[in-house]
Amino acid sequence: MAKALSEILADDVRAALTAVLGDAARGADPLIRPSDHADFQANGVLPLAKAVKGNPRELATRVAAVLAPAAGAAADAAGSAEAGTAAGAEDAEAAAETVPTSGVIAAVEVAGPGFLNLTLTAAALAAQAAERLGDPRLGVPPTAVGRTTVIDYSQPNIAKEMHVGHLRSTVIGDALVRLLEFDGRTVLRQNHLGDWGTQFGMLIQYLVEHPEARPARAEHSGEAAISWLTTLYRDARVLFESDTEFADRARKRVVTLQGGDEESLAAWREMVAESKRYFEDVYARLDVRLVDADAVGESFYNPYLAEVAADLEKRGVAVWSEGALCVFFEDIKGPDGDPVPLIVRKSDGGFGYAATDLAAVRYRVNTLKADQILYVVDSRQALHFRMVFEAARRAGYLPADVEAVHVQFGSVLGTDGKPFKTRAGKTVRLIELLDNAVDHAVATVEEKNPGLPAADTRAEAKVVGIGAVKYADLSTSRTKDYIFDLDRMVSLHGNTSVYLQYAHARIHSILRKLPAGTEVRVHGELALEPAERKLALHLDDFGATVAAVIENFEPHRLASYLYALAQTFSDFYENCPVLKAPTDAVRENRAALVELTGETLKLGLALLGISAPDQL
Ligand code: ARG
Repeated sequence: MAKALSEILADDVRAALTAVLGDAARGADPLIRPSDHADFQANGVLPLAKAVKGNPRELATRVAAVLAPAAGAAADAAGSAEAGTAAGAEDAEAAAETVPTSGVIAAVEVAGPGFLNLTLTAAALAAQAAERLGDPRLGVPPTAVGRTTVIDYSQPNIAKEMHVGHLRSTVIGDALVRLLEFDGRTVLRQNHLGDWGTQFGMLIQYLVEHPEARPARAEHSGEAAISWLTTLYRDARVLFESDTEFADRARKRVVTLQGGDEESLAAWREMVAESKRYFEDVYARLDVRLVDADAVGESFYNPYLAEVAADLEKRGVAVWSEGALCVFFEDIKGPDGDPVPLIVRKSDGGFGYAATDLAAVRYRVNTLKADQILYVVDSRQALHFRMVFEAARRAGYLPADVEAVHVQFGSVLGTDGKPFKTRAGKTVRLIELLDNAVDHAVATVEEKNPGLPAADTRAEAKVVGIGAVKYADLSTSRTKDYIFDLDRMVSLHGNTSVYLQYAHARIHSILRKLPAGTEVRVHGELALEPAERKLALHLDDFGATVAAVIENFEPHRLASYLYALAQTFSDFYENCPVLKAPTDAVRENRAALVELTGETLKLGLALLGISAPDQL
């Protein structure tokens, strides 16, 4: 497994800083950054010089001499007026003998107030590319083997259409699952379905009284299932609000359901099963990893609620207030200045959303053994999760070594900048939205590939259209709102999945055109053109990008990386002929960079849940 060059440089510079400054440099970050003047620059000398009250340029010069005593440093030090004193130079030389460096540095130059410009050897760039090429992980090591993440995402509600918020949760959650698994973690998917609550009394009662509400034949399409359920929901609600006797029967039904009455449970199960049919259709179309076994809905925690409430009370975490069992927080107050409680048990004795989430935390820690729990939920629930996490910490359900994160996201807006709705102001039906995306993509595929048979166009449009919906979501910073604009999403230009999918397909078409017998391999002895160098460096940064994405749960950074990669590749391909390369060695070496770019695009998109066919 290959460390990134930036990490190798960080190790080298850290060692050199320690050689020059001793203990004062321990733990200092060398701040390796991309540079316009060299391959990288190290900015870490400045803060260190300040800390030891030294002259930054002088310190930089001494560090440079340790890093590359034979190379640019010497020349630069000699040419620089304030270059190290004789003593400094001696120190550096003495240190140089004792500091083992990786040997990837070709030249070091002291710049500005004390930056180090670092240039790598061509051999180092070649060795990195060679190690990544052909490895399914592209040389990126897994860092979290043995750790367990529970991820709560998608979470649609029974007998209701999924809305775009559920789409976001599903798409972001799916990308995080893939990324965390790639990092070696065990990832337990939990689809926290809204399958419990008082509304089921109303729904079941209506279904019992109106058996004809069901479709005549057993309908197996998800679309048909959700269609009759939404009608049922609407009709039951109308009756509940207009007919007080029905409302009474509905309330009694909640009690019989919770008491385990078989007739009620059967109707409930029927609605759950029908809804799942619809959810599964959506998941299949979206090509996400969620399966039936991941559905662990709110109802699952029902048997634990009374016990959790009693336990919270016993521990003094929850107290009775106005008939309800509540948890209070110092710093959480409403607009009137009164504390806002987390309600564990309502004054009517019922348990709600918060109780379920507290029971879920306990289960995820104790039974599922999570050391990280992620909740991919709309940012409007931020306060709820803050309170749940805090209450769970106080109760000891969430030990200090278990991380709980509300991975929040913003809203989806229409092209008018308002919440995404149909023209009539209704929730947009997800299946329709996905169909629309595929329809839109047909035009893109036709533009790119006019003569393609209709069936093939349709098949490609599916890949392009679904990828576009996911990518549009994942490529904007998670916490921001974004505008759902199909025309932009399926555009061949700009930061879209279509652009990346075509870049990937183009790479495969280049590889197919290589003269017979061309070996795709890295030649370490070749000097690289600037555009080749830039591409090699960008490719080397894949693992560090993935690590940063995982650290902050920010898939959009991977999207930006891939977009920049496709652009860097374009630049390379314009400036460095591959098929018409000057020599066989240059062609083989360039072909290796082409192939590695293709593999990186493919893996990167796969980690976002987007497929990249070899031919489009
Ligand atoms: N079903 C809820 C909704 O549609 C989201 C559930 C989020 N997960 C959780 N553990 N509370 O808004």
